Amino acid sequence: MTHQECINCGSKYAVDEIVYFCKKCGDLLEIKYNYDELAKALGKSNWEKVPLSVWRYKDFMSINDFSKIVSLNEGGTGLHQCLRLGKQLGIRRLYVKNEGENPTGSFKDRGMTVGVTKAVELGVKSVICASTGNTSASLAAYAAKAGLCCAVLIPSGKIAYGKLSQAMIYGAQVLQVRGNFDQALDIVLKLSEKHRNIYLLNSINPFRIEGQKSLAYEMCDQLEEEVPDRVVVPVGNAGNISAIWKGFTEFHKLGFIGKLPRMTGIQAVGSAPIVQAIKSGSDKIVPVEKPETVATAIRIGAPVSWKKAVNAIRNSGGTAETVTDEEILAAQKLLARVEGIFVEPASASSIAGLIKLVNNGVIGKDERVVCVTTGHGLKDPDTAVKMSEKPVEVDAEMSAIEDALGLKRQVAILER
Ligand code: F0G
Repeated sequence: MTHQECINCGSKYAVDEIVYFCKKCGDLLEIKYNYDELAKALGKSNWEKVPLSVWRYKDFMSINDFSKIVSLNEGGTGLHQCLRLGKQLGIRRLYVKNEGENPTGSFKDRGMTVGVTKAVELGVKSVICASTGNTSASLAAYAAKAGLCCAVLIPSGKIAYGKLSQAMIYGAQVLQVRGNFDQALDIVLKLSEKHRNIYLLNSINPFRIEGQKSLAYEMCDQLEEEVPDRVVVPVGNAGNISAIWKGFTEFHKLGFIGKLPRMTGIQAVGSAPIVQAIKSGSDKIVPVEKPETVATAIRIGAPVSWKKAVNAIRNSGGTAETVTDEEILAAQKLLARVEGIFVEPASASSIAGLIKLVNNGVIGKDERVVCVTTGHGLKDPDTAVKMSEKPVEVDAEMSAIEDALGLKRQVAILER
């Protein structure tokens, strides 16, 4: 039977019980399946004929009533082969899984379609989250679609403008907290315990993770079961890297793939507790009190799912690395200019991490690498405008434009 299980003490909870942490030891929960039963159900299902999307994998999602699915058409994002970038770095097989192509512009939609469907199935009327921006945008959209009341807590002045505009236009109650993400998350965790009728949809909610694991399933299906050697993921609150690893291990258990990739997590220098734990070999993280980075999406000092992420990285034989703000912004520009893919700064950290790890020899040049870019560049237009060359202002005259484009000199040469 499918159930929720504590990752530490193994305590079990029913899938329709609203519980966020283990009641016995306080650790994180995850959804567990009976894989023989799942394999049997898949044998009778026509899932492989369904187009690439989160709901192609509905049998893997622990939803009882598929008539209640709340969807905006999420997943099925492009796996772009990056020949030009790969050539610059000396890697032959480099891909970008571009999650900015989701309905609200980030990978969060994969988790929200499942989490909000679960909320509807459970009969709750109100949903809440703390967010650095993308989770709030996504939850607000799916709550609107489902007709649920939605409140989001965001760190005041520290979320990118595109994300703020999304949460506002979808009609969520937006609270700007005078504090950082970690403080806002701490409050919503306590609030959802105290007010049991408000359903918490941060990635601590294991149904969010179920949706996000479809990222791994899609990579396998897009590469025709040729598993990547390495998957590089930006890490903030640490739900996504844990979800992707869960997806790969499930496909492996079911015999769809023959090996597993090395999970590689990237954090910004100013907010890197997981990298610190991996590098020091520690079993615990030391939270960063005042996290800072231009990549506001991953400006997180006390990642709630750190234990799952550390397990994913260690069990897969992967690694974790930091990147500076300068490296992040340079990688953002490079990806846009050589591959035509515009991502937000947090997403570019996976590219910056790749560059660093290739240069220092940790990632081999013959590896098949997938970098996950987690959110669309238009989420944070201010940063993109600030770091690009200013447009030249010209008069509305042909000769002025020819002048600005450097065409006049060429004409002059030709006429001579
Ligand atoms: N990239 C982007 C664009 C994000 O928005 C986030 C997280 C991450 C990477 C990191 O993913 O938290 O699963 O490790 N954003 C959250 C939010 C925290 O509130 O939108 P993670």
